[in-house]
Amino acid sequence: MICYLNGEWIPQANAKVSVMDRGFLFGDGVYEVIPCYNRSLLGGVEHLERLQRSLDKIGIENPHSMDEWLEIIHRLILTKEDEDQSIYIQVTRGAPAKRDHNPSDVPATVFLMSTPLGKPNVERHRQGYSAITVDDIRWHHCDIKAITLLPNIMARQLSQAAGVDDAILVRPGDCVTEAAASNLFIVKNSIIKTPPLSEQILPGITRALVLMIAAEQQLPLEEVEISKDDLMNADEVWLSSSTREIIPIVMIDGKTIGSGQSGSVWSQVFEYYQALKK
Ligand code: PDD
Repeated sequence: MICYLNGEWIPQANAKVSVMDRGFLFGDGVYEVIPCYNRSLLGGVEHLERLQRSLDKIGIENPHSMDEWLEIIHRLILTKEDEDQSIYIQVTRGAPAKRDHNPSDVPATVFLMSTPLGKPNVERHRQGYSAITVDDIRWHHCDIKAITLLPNIMARQLSQAAGVDDAILVRPGDCVTEAAASNLFIVKNSIIKTPPLSEQILPGITRALVLMIAAEQQLPLEEVEISKDDLMNADEVWLSSSTREIIPIVMIDGKTIGSGQSGSVWSQVFEYYQALKK
């Protein structure tokens, strides 16, 4: 398995970064996960634009132009046999000689790898997935796709311990934000609702594609705050992400959501999403 590290193409097992890397010592970096179907990126430019925004927000200079990124990614895709892949990109603030909280000016560390992206298990999707709600204990810049994911991992630890598939995050005041690694949608009375973009959620590229589908298909959609009560009483709940696409949640905190199976609005949006894959 070949990966890309700082300009070199090397077997992943031999790829090593310095222990002085600020990604390792401080979690000082950002990342992207881009889906690729039939060897074509879905939302590639949008993901790379979000990477630019994440880098700008933490003051790391983008080490590559858009064209350079696309070239590296396409070369990586060609090293694999899989038609469908998930491209992981990580950029950290590099490896200075000394551990120092003050950032110093050293070249960024750039790492890319690809993993196979399985076909969606439609039968499993139709049965739906389960989740728990947990406190959203994250910081105030969740719009930055930071590699520092400890609160997200702790949320997943709780969902694993509860024997469910995911964790839905709720801010104090009962405002539902997103899930541990996905954006969140509900459907109530045939209206699709999702929390508006803010520093409390990641501006998901899959979320943006769902918004685009809804607009094109004239499905009513509102970007509005969602309370825990709205969530628990929704007809449908979905999660969206580049790796899991759009999946229905049919049980939350042990309570059945809607019919207890994937809903009809989800089915439509899921089908339209499949059609976006080239
Ligand atoms: N996670 N919200 C959070 C907290 C996420 O980590 C992700 C994606 C999303 C969905 O964003 P997108 O549609 O652009 O993938 C929302 C990726 C897949 C991950 O961490 O692996």
